[in-house]
Amino acid sequence: MRTVSVVGIGAGNPEHITMQAISTLNAVDVVFMTDKGDAARELAELRLAICERYITSSSYRIVTVADPERDRGAAAYEPAVGDWRTRRAVSYERLIADELGEQDHGAFLAWGDPAIYDSTVHVLGEVLARGAVTFELQVIPGISSVQALAAQHKISLTRTGRPVHITTGRLLARGLPGNADDVVVMLDAGCAFTEIDGDDLEIYWGAYVGSKDEILISGRVAEVGHQIAAARAAARRRHGWIMDTYLLRRPDSP
Ligand SMILES: C[S@@+](CC[C@H](N)C(=O)[O-])C[C@H]1O[C@@H](n2cnc3c(N)ncnc32)[C@H](O)[C@@H]1O
Repeated sequence: MRTVSVVGIGAGNPEHITMQAISTLNAVDVVFMTDKGDAARELAELRLAICERYITSSSYRIVTVADPERDRGAAAYEPAVGDWRTRRAVSYERLIADELGEQDHGAFLAWGDPAIYDSTVHVLGEVLARGAVTFELQVIPGISSVQALAAQHKISLTRTGRPVHITTGRLLARGLPGNADDVVVMLDAGCAFTEIDGDDLEIYWGAYVGSKDEILISGRVAEVGHQIAAARAAARRRHGWIMDTYLLRRPDSP
């Protein structure tokens, strides 16, 4: 039977890759790369560099697949994402049928960890459910930008016996989740932290975390929020893209 692996490759530091990921990559016949257009060219190059650095066999092939366009202007967010995932499933189904022989092993590379805001595992589940191709699905964890952020700021995300909440900028814009004192925010294109009430809130922000271009800023949102927004805008202009993540923390009462 075919095997399809989703391999977490870390979020920008090529040394954030596990031994399991390296041995899986060395067992594959095909590495599938999704082409997300010009803005993501640098990220695609990082993925290629990982293959070149860690895959010692010369018998694997790289197959690039165009990512279906997502309707980012759609009024209803969830149906638009559902429709995009289904179009992805159709495209992956065709790819697996055309590019993998019955006993072949293919891999999709997932940025960071495949379990955090990454749809690859879900889409491959949808491919299996459609029933047109069969394969064994394997998921190899990776180091997420969330873990890398905490490590670079030298902090723990969970305070003793307390939870941490992971969310998106879009949801944070509606307000801090009820009772949450430690909130990790990803996918925030609009600096939602500048809109949140709470004079005492602390922020641990990082962009391009783990890479040579990493920027880290921390402090009280009231004091460093504007500095972060300015650093973010300048870095985005310089690179043409940005990926940033942050922890918002309510300090313990004295
Ligand atoms: C589609 S999600 C993918 C998350 C990924 N699966 C992970 O585990 O990090 C993309 C978001 O992850 C965060 N991210 C990914 N890489 C990052 C990095 N090197 N530095 C900071 N944030 C990053 C950003 O919030 C970005 O908007």
